[in-house]
Amino acid sequence: MEQLAEQLNQTIQAEAPALYEMLSEVGKEMYFPSKGILSQSAEAKAKAKRFNATIGTALENGEAMHLDCLMSQLPGISPDAALLYAPSPGLPDLRKAWQEKLLHDNPDLKDKVISLPIVTSGLTHALSLIGDAFIDKGDALIYPDKNWGNYALNYVVRHGAKPVYFPLFSGENFNLDGLKDSLKKTQASGAHKAVVLLNFPNNPTGYAPTEDECVKIAEILLEAAENGMKLVVIIDDAYYSLFHKEKVFRQSLFTKLAGKHRNLLAIKADAATKEVYVWGLRVGFLTFSIGGIASATPVLEALNAKIGGFIRAGISNCSALSQRLVLNALRSPDFYKQRAEKAAIMKERALEMERVLREPKYSEAWTEYPFNSGYFMCLHINKISARDLRVYLLDKYGVGTIAINDTDLRIAFSCIKKEDVQELFDTILQAWQELAK
Ligand SMILES: Cc1ncc(COP(=O)(O)O)c(C=O)c1O
Repeated sequence: MEQLAEQLNQTIQAEAPALYEMLSEVGKEMYFPSKGILSQSAEAKAKAKRFNATIGTALENGEAMHLDCLMSQLPGISPDAALLYAPSPGLPDLRKAWQEKLLHDNPDLKDKVISLPIVTSGLTHALSLIGDAFIDKGDALIYPDKNWGNYALNYVVRHGAKPVYFPLFSGENFNLDGLKDSLKKTQASGAHKAVVLLNFPNNPTGYAPTEDECVKIAEILLEAAENGMKLVVIIDDAYYSLFHKEKVFRQSLFTKLAGKHRNLLAIKADAATKEVYVWGLRVGFLTFSIGGIASATPVLEALNAKIGGFIRAGISNCSALSQRLVLNALRSPDFYKQRAEKAAIMKERALEMERVLREPKYSEAWTEYPFNSGYFMCLHINKISARDLRVYLLDKYGVGTIAINDTDLRIAFSCIKKEDVQELFDTILQAWQELAK
C-alpha cells in the first residue's frame, strides 16, 4: 500500500476505527497525492520568483492565456479567476462559504465537529464519490422504495451494493418501522456494515419529515449503531430549503446525526444545483461527521484527503468558473433574500396543486402521495398503468410527466406556472378517463 494511504489510514484508525472499517477496499487504498505534481506546483507558486515551469496551464502577459472571443462573454471575471484550475477539493473560499451557509441554515450544527465541505461536480458526483469510498460489492444499501432512480445505477450497478428497500410511507408519515426493520434484517443477515440513504425533500414524492420524525429516524439509526452496526448514512439534501408547509423540519436530518455515535458516519450530500438554481454549473458538496472524535479533526481531514484523491483520479478538479459564480452569489448580501423569493414561488405552486387536488373529481383516477416540499409531487394512478398514461398524455395532449413505475406518475411543479396547475390536472384526468373507460 502506498505510504500516503497508510498514513491516512493510521490517522483514521487511531481516532475512529469504525470509520476505517466503513471504507471500501479502494477507499482504504486511496490517498491524495500531496507529494506529487500538485505539491511541487504549490511550492513553486510560493517560491519560484524567476520562472515557474511547473503546471500545465498557459500564461501570457502575467495572466491565463485566453481567447478574446471566449473571455468577452464573461465581463467582470478575470481570465485567472475564470480559466485556471481549482484545487481538487475545491476553491478554499467556496468551501468556507458553503460551510457558513450550512451553519446559517442549520443552527444546530454550531459546536458540532463537521468536516470542511469538499466541492464536487454536482450532487451526482458527490454521491458517486461516496460509492467509491464506502461501497464494496455485496454491501447492504438500505433506502426507501420511492427514490431517485440514479441511486440504483450508481450504487447497485456500479458498485454492486445489495439493495434493501422499505416503503417510504406508513399512511401519511415517514415509515419509521420500515427503516427499523430493514436495519434489523440487515444485521440479522450477518452484516456488520450498512449504507443508509435518505433524501428529503424526497424525489419523486416531495415529502420531507417533521422534526419529530427526524428525531425518531435518528433514534433508530443510533440504536443500530449502538448495537454494533457500522453505518454510513447518506443524507441527500438536493432540494434543501424548499419547504412548503409549516410542519416540515427546517434543518437537515444531518443535524440530528452529526457527531452522535462513533459507529455512525453522517454524510451531508448537497449542492447548489437545485437550491441556487444552477443545474448546469455542476457544483455540489460533501460534508462528514462522526461521533467520538475530538474537536480537532485530523480524522475528517484524512477522509477529505481520500475523497480529494478520488476527485483527482476521476476528474482532477471541478469547474473553477462554476465555483466562482456560486461563491460570488453566496457572498452577495442578497443571497438569502433572493433564495427565499424563488422558494416562495415554488411554494405557491405546491399550494395551488394541493388546492386543485382537493376537488373530489380526481379521486377515482388517483391518490396523491403526501407532499410538502421540494420540486415534485407524485400521483398513485388507479386502474390503469402509469406508464400507459404517460405515453398517452404525451402523444395525445402534449403533456410531459414521468412514470416512475407502473403505478406512480411524477409531476414536477417546479416547472409549471401556478395558473396552469388546474389545466394540467384536468388534462391528466381527461386522459385517464379515456384510457380507463
Ligand atoms: C434526489 C436527488 N439527488 C441528487 C440529484 C443530482 O443532482 P445534481 O444535478 O447536482 O447532480 C438529483 C437530481 O435530480 C436528485 O433528484
